Amino acid sequence: MSALTVLGLETSCDETAAAVVRLEGGRAAVLSSVVRGQAEAHAPFGGVAPEVAARAHVEVIDVAARQALAEANLAVADLDAIAATAGPGLIGGVMVGLAFGKAMALASGKPLVAVNHLEGHAVSARLDADVPYPFLLLLVSGGHCQLLEVAGVGACKRLGATLDDAAGEAFDKIGRSLGLSFPGGPALEAAAEGGDPKRFTLPKSLAGRDGCDFSFSGLKTAAARAALKINGEEERRNLAAAVQAAIAGQLADRTAVALAGYARRHPPSERRFVVAGGVAANRAVRAALLKVCEEVDFAFFAPPLAYCTDNAAMIALAGAERLALGLTSALDVSARPRWPLDEAAATVEPMHKTAGRKGAKA
Ligand code: KG4
Ligand code: ZN
Repeated sequence: MSALTVLGLETSCDETAAAVVRLEGGRAAVLSSVVRGQAEAHAPFGGVAPEVAARAHVEVIDVAARQALAEANLAVADLDAIAATAGPGLIGGVMVGLAFGKAMALASGKPLVAVNHLEGHAVSARLDADVPYPFLLLLVSGGHCQLLEVAGVGACKRLGATLDDAAGEAFDKIGRSLGLSFPGGPALEAAAEGGDPKRFTLPKSLAGRDGCDFSFSGLKTAAARAALKINGEEERRNLAAAVQAAIAGQLADRTAVALAGYARRHPPSERRFVVAGGVAANRAVRAALLKVCEEVDFAFFAPPLAYCTDNAAMIALAGAERLALGLTSALDVSARPRWPLDEAAATVEPMHKTAGRKGAKA
């Protein structure tokens, strides 16, 4: 198959991103990757303000796309397709990127590929390593926490998901309780440096249980209460370290269950594990997951840090993989605030226990 060159656009949360990726012989090359964050605009709100995000995307999406093409040394005419995130995410932002992608596709006559943001995270490890399908995926970001079996492009089976908060959301909310800046994940990782995680006892929700679901709300409450009592920098460091260890520990515990199930269904040659999403940038999380994989002989993959958090290179690659299969989108495709990767699981089992969707952000 000849090379496919795709421009990716990502605007589903608080990063405006554009990137050009070339897919050739099943391997990806990132020709450019532009990410414009909005952290300053959201800092006063202590979280992402959807309307502020949408307006910020409108202001810079064209600049980001132009820059991505310039850095790749390409013109629109050199592209094979335009790929844009069509959900899930903050709908105002998703609409900005998707509408921009549609306009580019219409004006240039190139095909449009509407990409599921989560599918972007799922392929992100393939941006710089040869990770063949199938693989087991732990997707951990600000809005998502789920374990999936990924059989191929658009073929995901969900094994478990969070019953309450996503892992990144837990980092962010607990970071706020500890008086850290937003986003809490990287701030908490820095605050935990040199801390002793054993100085605090925090709940280990679902530890040792069957199944692959997650729960962080008990930890969030316990950490918020402990934060009220801490005295001085050292205690804060210890509490941050304990929180980080608790989150990493739960991710590793639930992943171990999923790895065991996957190993029963797949031959040793297919034992591959990928962690993706913003929380995959955390070193304690990576180390805990690597250890679990080594124990049961799984190959461990994590994208480079720049491709863990939101970026458009992963959207361009997911778009290129879809394009290679002829999976393009009509120009009237809709932006979707919710768009589960495993639509069947979400339809068959839409409710969990008595409240809410299966997996808060699934
Ligand atoms: O994938 P992402 O950029 O956006 C979503 O799709 O949600 O993930 C952002 C999340 C935030 O919750 C942020 O706090 C978390 O990833 N995060 C981290 C780290 N870097 C980002 N969490 C823990 N440690 C980090 N180093
Ligand atoms: Zn994301």
